Amino acid sequence: MKTQLEAIKTQAITELENAQNGTEIEALRVKYLGKKGELTAILKQMGGLSPEERPIMGQLVNQAKAELETLIAEKTELMKKAALEQKLKDETIDITLPAKEINKGKLHPLNTVLDDMIDIFTSMGFDVVDGPEVETDHYNFECLNVPQDHPARDMQDTFYLAENLLLRTQTSAAQIRTMENRKPPIRVICPGRVFRADEVDATHSPVFHQIEGLVVDKGITMCDLKGVLEEFAHEIYGKDTAVKFRPSFFPFTEPSVEVDVTCSECGGKGCRVCKGSGWIEILGAGMVHPNVLRSCGIDPEEYSGFAFGIGLDRLTTTRYKISDIRLLFENDKRFLEQF
Ligand code: PHE
Repeated sequence: MKTQLEAIKTQAITELENAQNGTEIEALRVKYLGKKGELTAILKQMGGLSPEERPIMGQLVNQAKAELETLIAEKTELMKKAALEQKLKDETIDITLPAKEINKGKLHPLNTVLDDMIDIFTSMGFDVVDGPEVETDHYNFECLNVPQDHPARDMQDTFYLAENLLLRTQTSAAQIRTMENRKPPIRVICPGRVFRADEVDATHSPVFHQIEGLVVDKGITMCDLKGVLEEFAHEIYGKDTAVKFRPSFFPFTEPSVEVDVTCSECGGKGCRVCKGSGWIEILGAGMVHPNVLRSCGIDPEEYSGFAFGIGLDRLTTTRYKISDIRLLFENDKRFLEQF
């Protein structure tokens, strides 16, 4: 029996030495020390021994058991350590490797210019309001003194979504919504996207941006309009920029003007950008037509106002000397990263 015990022990130790992982060790533990294990089986045979032999043998078996248990615990500990070391080795960071490039976002040039414009107008006391891009015929045309059969509808090729529903062709619709919701004095700007069924080329896009401005109060005159817009042009283009007011026509303003500034490309000498004229048109404006005030429930005998619509895209392309408006909308990172 003693020889049998020795044999089992040697066998167990060899197998344990060869064990490769936790599962194998556990299997060995069950095989030798488990309830149905080989050492337990020996203990069961002790009934056949003489009373003198029994305690000696019992002690030997228990010794072997304890020995095996210690060996298993040691081996398990060793394997754990090895696994940890391997893991640490696998996870070491090579600090000499070049770092991954972090792509920092940037403002789109249109947003940079828009932020500047908002700064200029809010510093003059204007609020910023928002309006829907899908408008009704009523707000985009009707209330702006452009009835169904008015020839001025031809000035703006419109994307219709349904009979009376369209993509706004101008932010001027926001004038009406503002006057319906606020009492004078009113001083607001409304920046946003507008849509026209234009042919696409270097200076035209079916989607572009306007900033509508509106001032309504008692005693507002053309002088206020000129003062505000001149100040704006000087802030945007610099104090040396000349500003020119040309008579024009818009159905919702009377009188109406278009505003030009000296071409920033050639300084007024005439070039490709200003088509040789030395001037760049930046906005349309005028005194709010009495019909428009009336349609919003404001008495034109008591109040007057002026409105203006600035093209944001033109301002952006001239400021950054961008030769083609389409670049603004292509979202090519290589282009956008330059600003
Ligand atoms: N809405 C006009 C346009 O899109 C611009 C404008 C706005 C003119 C306000 C006068 C007053 O051309």
